Amino acid sequence: EQTLAQSSKLAVLGEMSAAVSHELNQPLAAMKTYLAGARLIIQRKRPEEALASFQRIDDLIDRMGAITRQLKSYARKGSDAFEPFDVRDAVSSALAMMEPQLKARRVAISRTIPDHRAMILGDRLRLEQVIINLLRNALDATRGVKDPAVGILLAAGQTVSLTVRDNGPGIEDLDALFEPFYTTKQPGDGVGLGLAISSNIVTELGGRLTARNGSEGGAVFELVLPALDAPAAAAE
Ligand SMILES: Nc1ncnc2c1ncn2[C@@H]1O[C@H](COP(=O)(O)OP(=O)(O)OP(=O)(O)O)[C@@H](O)[C@H]1O
Ligand SMILES: [Mg+2]
Repeated sequence: EQTLAQSSKLAVLGEMSAAVSHELNQPLAAMKTYLAGARLIIQRKRPEEALASFQRIDDLIDRMGAITRQLKSYARKGSDAFEPFDVRDAVSSALAMMEPQLKARRVAISRTIPDHRAMILGDRLRLEQVIINLLRNALDATRGVKDPAVGILLAAGQTVSLTVRDNGPGIEDLDALFEPFYTTKQPGDGVGLGLAISSNIVTELGGRLTARNGSEGGAVFELVLPALDAPAAAAE
């Protein structure tokens, strides 16, 4: 007979396996793009130029390793993997990870980032996953739009807040949004886990993730996290 503790451990295992496989899709897609790029470069007989693509692929393999290692740290469940980091760096890495998708589309990305540090305590890789999920959703939402635009706004003060907005059609069902497996996308395009995973991560970081529709249309996602530095210290 299965004890309650065992079944809740299994539930946690199921949740984290789903999250890990979901998050591996992004680096896998990016690797495929860089590999195709390297193949093209070699066919054009400029093998030295392929080295940069190989480096990217190497970095992505490291990242995938870090994502699967999370299974272990999840199992310990706790904040012992937390370290201070600058959210500006997480935004840059997330955008770098999205580079292949961004290059494939003509989307105007605007970035408003403070020129002082935006420090929080947490797991940087996990926050990057949240940002990637929000950006992927924004890219999906603007697919049929005439002049697709995505805005990223980072602000640091008493809290660190990150807003991702797009000029897509807006959110259909605000109540169901964060539920696991809620999706309006075609099978194969989405499983409805991105926001459920993201809101779990943000809660773990002691913050919250909210969504609304913008006054001029489009979706607005806001992530608020406890700041590590007091505003005076952050000003440097
Ligand atoms: N920027 C957005 N604009 C409009 N609707 C959105 C936006 N982001 C999310 N949604 C809605 O919320 C649903 C759930 O999003 P979520 O990221 O959890 O799953 P998904 O994108 O459908 O699939 P997955 O992220 O697992 O690949 C989406 O299917 C979509 O209907
Ligand atoms: Mg998604």
